[in-house]
Amino acid sequence: MSLSDQQTVRLRPEIVALPAYRQGRTADAAAFKLSSNENPFDPLPGVIEAVQAETAFNRYPDATALALREKLAERFGLKADEVHIGSGSVALLAQLILAAAGPGDEVIYSWRSFEAYPSLVTVSGATSVQVPNRADHGHDLPEMAAAITDRTRVVIVCTPNNPTGSIVTRDEFDAFMAVVPRDLLVILDEAYIEFVTDADAVTGPTLLARYPNLVVLRTFSKAYGLAGLRVGYALGPVPILDAARATAIPLSVTAQAATAAIASLERSNELMERVRSISARRDALWQDLIDQGWDIPKPHGNFIWLPTGEVTAEVAERLGAAGLIVRPFHPEGIRISIGEEQAMHDLRRISQEIAEAVPAATAARRLSSATDAPTRRLSSATDAPALRVDDSTATSARRLSSATDAPALRVDDSTATSARRLS
Ligand SMILES: Cc1ncc(COP(=O)(O)O)c(C=O)c1O
Repeated sequence: MSLSDQQTVRLRPEIVALPAYRQGRTADAAAFKLSSNENPFDPLPGVIEAVQAETAFNRYPDATALALREKLAERFGLKADEVHIGSGSVALLAQLILAAAGPGDEVIYSWRSFEAYPSLVTVSGATSVQVPNRADHGHDLPEMAAAITDRTRVVIVCTPNNPTGSIVTRDEFDAFMAVVPRDLLVILDEAYIEFVTDADAVTGPTLLARYPNLVVLRTFSKAYGLAGLRVGYALGPVPILDAARATAIPLSVTAQAATAAIASLERSNELMERVRSISARRDALWQDLIDQGWDIPKPHGNFIWLPTGEVTAEVAERLGAAGLIVRPFHPEGIRISIGEEQAMHDLRRISQEIAEAVPAATAARRLSSATDAPTRRLSSATDAPALRVDDSTATSARRLSSATDAPALRVDDSTATSARRLS
């Protein structure tokens, strides 16, 4: 028997238009998976043992993960209620957006940035306002501040930015916060902060006392290598975190995840040693690619960004054929995670070949979405004709509705096609 594939019930059209979640491509045994910014090191034995000891899974977990919150609160000099745990920081992002924004409201973020942002905003019913990255691939914070209207409810700042790897500096952030209204929620997404070595970079926790509208998001998925267990945390004022808690799906952080996070914090020294080696691997790779003639922004996370433009698909294919599974965003560029030594070695070899065979790949270029692009408003309303595109990555596939909300462009939700590919 097969069930009807006709849609008979009334669903939210903007949700129906959202494509299903697409994960970074998996790699076969002979290939390296460099498509999801995962940590290439195996879990630490002590962390594995702690998880294995957590066997009472006939019981629900502690709904607020208090032991983990206490541990993090101590680390950051906060109260336990100023820490909120989620099943990955993406869950916390969803909660915070839901808590602050709904239909008619706007959420501002830089673009291109983390692929989950557009769809999380659409699900909340709010409208995405995408401010193009600067020519150097970083956030344009003055333009983001200029995009704030009385409909704005959330601004997301991602540093280091996924996928371009750029950081926001402390000075840039302070100048931005000075002009942001105090009743507007600012989320500082620091998923990759542990890999940052630049002393000028902003780091959120120390700024919490200064900015009552700031929430900092961090994750155990990247530096701590717990991507598969799903655990992240938010630091911020209790009233904001309470609102996020109210939107959360209860009990979604498992005891195994919380235990692994605690065991990892207890082994921070060892884990940060690994993080340092990944950052060093990243810097060496970046320098070698620059020497090969690639014009790529300085990376600050555990990944690099190749702005390959129109030849993105071709370059990604060449890398894939060489056993390197990367994340292409055609026609903008390719994000490559810092992985195993062998993978980085193979990458250097194939990148040299590509630089010779496809000279256009190495040319400096801005993200195509940023090229003279205005700030975009992605409507989640249904007044624009619903248009769907199948090309999951093409920024150029954005189809503008004829009825525009001058001066900002209105883009229908088909643009979110590229927005479902997490991490
Ligand atoms: C910028 C950014 N924020 C948040 C996340 C979510 O990570 P997780 O849900 O695994 O904590 C990711 C994942 O790739 C990311 O790149």
